[in-house]
Amino acid sequence: MIDMQDPSPSDVIVAKGLTHSYGEGELKNEILHQLDFRVLAKEVTLLVGPSGSGKSTLLTLIGALRSVETGSLHVLGRQLLGASENELMAIRRRIGFIFQSHNLVASLTVLQNVQLLLQLAEPDPKLRQERAKAMLDAVGLSARLHHFPDELSGGQRQRVAIARALAPEPDLVLADEPTASLDSKSGQDVVELLGDLCRRRSSAVLLVTHDLRLLKDADRIWGIEDGRIHPWEEEEAKHNLSH
Ligand SMILES: Nc1ncnc2c1ncn2[C@@H]1O[C@H](COP(=O)(O)OP(=O)(O)OP(=O)(O)O)[C@@H](O)[C@H]1O
Ligand SMILES: [Mg+2]
Repeated sequence: MIDMQDPSPSDVIVAKGLTHSYGEGELKNEILHQLDFRVLAKEVTLLVGPSGSGKSTLLTLIGALRSVETGSLHVLGRQLLGASENELMAIRRRIGFIFQSHNLVASLTVLQNVQLLLQLAEPDPKLRQERAKAMLDAVGLSARLHHFPDELSGGQRQRVAIARALAPEPDLVLADEPTASLDSKSGQDVVELLGDLCRRRSSAVLLVTHDLRLLKDADRIWGIEDGRIHPWEEEEAKHNLSH
């Protein structure tokens, strides 16, 4: 059983009774039902579940991109239920987002794309460039600094997106299907890379996927089905992998 006491310092996310609906009145549709779970620092946590189970909805709630309406959701020590727009913005600044479509700016080089998100974190242009270069080096792209996104492979583009999300040194990384367009090896490399970086910086990674090949690279796995969350069982993986 999970201990659902009050948040401890290693808790990056703690949800209790988190419930979310779309729509109003008769059209109201409850998508997430009474979720209880936590995500710890220095861990890669996977959230696995079928299409439509509520994974992206949950990620946008955690990322303070959508308002929490019912239940408690602590992210980076702050209660998001009832938080003001300013508080939500402060939380968002501490989070690195990685989405399936990497949203790189096509007219900017790899280095410029990473520098772009560093503007708030590092006002000095020279230091900003150094930080962007160091991050691109960490994801193995030092030889591609001056290439444009459409000159890269899918895996390389995804690594730029990761460098861009991690360069400001976020305390939490939220990734929605970041490996969906990658082959199995590149997908595993991406998860390993996220794991290395989060352990080095004591941050946390929450990665949404339905790619069951990634299960073995995670520190912790939550399953979500029809808007209900549960610790992922080994048997479940075997069952799902055999289908
Ligand atoms: N903006 C919205 N308004 C109304 N319903 C929505 C909205 N966004 C998602 N939904 C519904 O909420 C449910 C969960 O959607 P969500 O996108 O969270 O699923 P998911 O697990 O991320 O799926 P996938 O693996 O396909 O990305 C779905 O039934 C979807 O139709
Ligand atoms: Mg989704």
